[in-house]
Amino acid sequence: MTPSTNQVYPVIWHNNSVSLIDQTRLPNEYTFVAIHRSEDMAQAIKTMIVRGAPAIGIAAAYGLYLGAREIETSDRQEFLTHLEKVAQLLRSTRPTAVNLFWAIGRMLKTAHESLGTVAEIKEILFETAEAINHEDLQTCQMIGDHGLTVLPSTPEKLTLLTHCNAGALATAGYGTALGVVRSAWRENRLARVFADETRPRLQGAKLTTWECVQEGIPVTLITDNMAAHCMQQGLIHAVVVGADRIAANGDTANKIGTYSVAIAAKAHNIPFFVAAPLSTVDFELSDGSQIPIEERNPEEIYQVGDTILTPSGVEFYNPAFDVTPAELITAIITEKGAFAPGNLAKYQLQQYVS
Ligand code: MRU
Repeated sequence: MTPSTNQVYPVIWHNNSVSLIDQTRLPNEYTFVAIHRSEDMAQAIKTMIVRGAPAIGIAAAYGLYLGAREIETSDRQEFLTHLEKVAQLLRSTRPTAVNLFWAIGRMLKTAHESLGTVAEIKEILFETAEAINHEDLQTCQMIGDHGLTVLPSTPEKLTLLTHCNAGALATAGYGTALGVVRSAWRENRLARVFADETRPRLQGAKLTTWECVQEGIPVTLITDNMAAHCMQQGLIHAVVVGADRIAANGDTANKIGTYSVAIAAKAHNIPFFVAAPLSTVDFELSDGSQIPIEERNPEEIYQVGDTILTPSGVEFYNPAFDVTPAELITAIITEKGAFAPGNLAKYQLQQYVS
């Protein structure tokens, strides 16, 4: 039996290893992969068995713990030096989602600050990975509920468009953009979700629709190039997407194609929301031009299943993310509330002062 999405946890600690839902096999097969070693975790992140910014961060945190377990010395300094190498391997998997770097940074800080033995540091690393996982679930539930405060008040039942998958599968288990969708559904504020298929990896077609179907949320799949038309037809009341990295000025990197959805939304005067935890904000980057954009294997665009789409002699470009400028974003919905993009940096300063 396939469990309801409320019970979908893409990354959990189980049987002394990390259990990942194999997202490359959904929706046809709902299977799990057991990860015992840090190298296997790095490979799982690279190959997108686990994907989505917060889920990548959680997976990397457990991956670092797995790596710590593999280190055999009892010398603290030697242990920390080896741990940094594991961190380096995990950091090299995917460059855009800042949650990966954030989670590894938090794990390393915990290790360095601990005055305990190596065995005790390992234990603390495990507890920190578990905390990152559990906190993300709560964070997403808060994001979902804050989303309700900014969604258009009319009509009573909204049709929301989303791009890629920013759902339970991409987080600890509730979702950011799909968290807003879930909260709207719970409060009877949702008529339907339109899901962009999200070329080339089809996270919208394969994962977002799957999550919606599990929960009985009405979902309509469209191809990416249909979004503007649907807006023009008056079918969409608001757009909600996730984020992989948000610069201090609010410029937002998310799955390739998000930028064109934002342009279309602006042209049709439709609110465009980004839903993301504050761990996705990279306050060290002043604007989106500094966000590293992952380029993936061209096979993802020239091949569908076993079928090659193009003649030989063609060149390819396969950026996995794009940057939506802050001026196209109505609000960024976080666990601390919804901010106009320009207010993010002010929020950080207030926190610093208080
Ligand atoms: O390449 P992916 O599938 O990891 O990209 C995922 C996205 O772009 C999501 O929208 C983003 O990570 C937010 S997930 C809550």
